Amino acid sequence: MTGGGDCPGLNAVIRAVTKTAISKYGMKVWGIEDGYLGLIEKRFRPLSYEDVSNILEAGGTILGSNNTTNPSKYPVKSKSGKIVFKDVSNLCIRNLKQKKIDALICIGGDGTQTSSAVFAKKGLTVIGVPKTIDNDLWGTDVTFGFDTAVTTATEAIDKLRTTASSHHRVMVVEVMGRYAGWIALHCGVASGSDVILIPEIPYKIENVCKFVQQRSKKGKSYSLVVVAEGAKEVGGKMTVSKTCALSPDPIRLGGIANKLAGQIEEITKLETRAVTLGYIQRGGAPTPWDRILGTSFGNAAIELLVSGVKNRLVVLKNNKLSSVPLSQVAGKTRTIPKNHPLIKAGRAVNTCFGD
Ligand code: F6P
Repeated sequence: MTGGGDCPGLNAVIRAVTKTAISKYGMKVWGIEDGYLGLIEKRFRPLSYEDVSNILEAGGTILGSNNTTNPSKYPVKSKSGKIVFKDVSNLCIRNLKQKKIDALICIGGDGTQTSSAVFAKKGLTVIGVPKTIDNDLWGTDVTFGFDTAVTTATEAIDKLRTTASSHHRVMVVEVMGRYAGWIALHCGVASGSDVILIPEIPYKIENVCKFVQQRSKKGKSYSLVVVAEGAKEVGGKMTVSKTCALSPDPIRLGGIANKLAGQIEEITKLETRAVTLGYIQRGGAPTPWDRILGTSFGNAAIELLVSGVKNRLVVLKNNKLSSVPLSQVAGKTRTIPKNHPLIKAGRAVNTCFGD
């Protein structure tokens, strides 16, 4: 099952899980459609070796995904026609048992793994695989999908440099990442952006404007500002674009680039434009590294299962594959430590973090 937002490398995991399970261990594999929604609605599809051929390089997920279904809080119509929330996790377990499914490989980020920890606690055998472009899952040094998102964002910023430079503008680029600044930090450093704003380091607008103005005075004709969607001013709040009431995490961030560009233009009088990269970061073919990581994670998930291990998340720690208990991962977010070496390296090359 693939749950949460789509992410490059999902198909690499599905392929590795299915091929290892079938060819090495003679297991039968079922795919669950559209994440937890398919589990609730009993939408299971047998996966053969052929079904997962030629999908390694494809973005998205052949199974479909869903980031608005929470089995512990599922909306159903009451007799009076009112929508009420029900815990349907026992129904999910029954659905799996009816199909004689012994174990669930749950490919997802923190929302998905928080629910998978609930299933594990209820006695289901679960192995989690860490997915997300945000790279914010607790317990692993890296999630698959992150490298592709950083590559896509870096390429986009390289392209935006052209217009920034030709028109002598400040270009503010908003990237995803939710409450963590991993994507912004990495693509910011990789693209040589002048300012990087991340949720972990609240910024002061005066500092950003002063930095950009000083660059302009020194004869630098343009500036590139990368801002994580979760970045916020000192004492301020994150910019919310909408609320999805039914989602396990209902807040959708977005809009900080527009806000910031307006402020920078007003204060510095330098022509400023905003660009939001959005879902482009989640799309397209996975990078070779994400294909490798997805394949390694998928394979490790089956090997763990066969060795009798259960209720753990496959992780990459210090460049080695291992696993951590799902119960430890649930409900946590891995943000960037303030003394992270890449922040230090960024500061050393005179990048402004707005603090
Ligand atoms: O978790 C992946 C992610 O793309 C985040 O970076 C972003 O905040 C969120 O999902 C967007 O969610 P949705 O697809 O519901 O708009």
